[in-house]
Amino acid sequence: MGKLKGKVAIISGSGRGIGQAVAYKLAQEGASVVVNDLDAGPAEETVAHILASGGQAVACIGSVNAPDFADRFVKTAIDNFGGLDIIINNAGFTWDNVLQKMTDEQWYAMIDVHLTAPFRILRAASEFIRSASKAEAEAGQSIHRKVVNISSIAGVGGNAGQANYSAAKAGVIGLTRAMSKEWGRYKVNVNCVAYGMINTRLTNAPADGSAVLEIEGKKIKAGVNPDLLKAMESMIPLGRGGTPDEAAGAVAMFCYPESDYVSGELLVCGGGFRM
Ligand SMILES: NC(=O)c1ccc[n+]([C@@H]2O[C@H](COP(=O)([O-])OP(=O)(O)OC[C@H]3O[C@@H](n4cnc5c(N)ncnc54)[C@H](O)[C@@H]3O)[C@@H](O)[C@H]2O)c1
Repeated sequence: MGKLKGKVAIISGSGRGIGQAVAYKLAQEGASVVVNDLDAGPAEETVAHILASGGQAVACIGSVNAPDFADRFVKTAIDNFGGLDIIINNAGFTWDNVLQKMTDEQWYAMIDVHLTAPFRILRAASEFIRSASKAEAEAGQSIHRKVVNISSIAGVGGNAGQANYSAAKAGVIGLTRAMSKEWGRYKVNVNCVAYGMINTRLTNAPADGSAVLEIEGKKIKAGVNPDLLKAMESMIPLGRGGTPDEAAGAVAMFCYPESDYVSGELLVCGGGFRM
């Protein structure tokens, strides 16, 4: 407990699933957290849980795709908690189709949420990060900041039916590596976690295929076919999908001071599964 005392974190898509578990874990370790989600309900519930556990959190509601979102997200951290130390680019969903049936809307929905939004959030944070780092260097302080971008094994090895998602999640690995080189001089560690199968609403849904995600006016079928899910589980060396809390552990590792000399890395968190 307390590894992140005094740190300020912004976590996109943290009203549910993995992002929520990351928010809980970072808050437990003492970070003040800005919780974001599309919908006010899940974001505010997450904030309420953190506050009730003695942590510090505020919500910043809205789509990461909104043109003014990135500035608002960064400003929420600075206005409420006086700084910004940790950025977790997690918000997202899947919208699958085979290539010949994939619309431009499906393609750009994945590029926008998984790749363009993280780019904009990092760009919005850059002014604060560069000036804070300069002031800290002048004061003789050595303070590391952390960025963790969320990818997928689909981005590492590709996945049939997910050309859009695989391309976007591969892109975020490139963004990670470029930014680790660009921001090393400001003592920012930029790393990436690629998940295998984690049990959230994105993967687990009723067998009848009835679960539908409502994302910015679009209705998108949720969950992986249960037979496919079983087949995927049988290929995981640890024999099961991961929990959101286990998934959050991989992100937290990159946020702790123990990883201050690790940057530009891709960590696959998939129970031993390799594409
Ligand atoms: N669950 C898995 O097996 C798995 C595997 C690989 C990668 N991932 C990645 O992990 C991340 C989290 O997924 P999850 O499984 O926790 O899903 P989830 O659906 O449980 O949570 C994702 C959250 O992101 C929010 N979100 C979606 N679009 C948004 C937007 N435009 N603006 C703001 N918030 C938005 C959703 O409302 C939701 O609360 C995603 O980037 C996903 O691609 C998940």
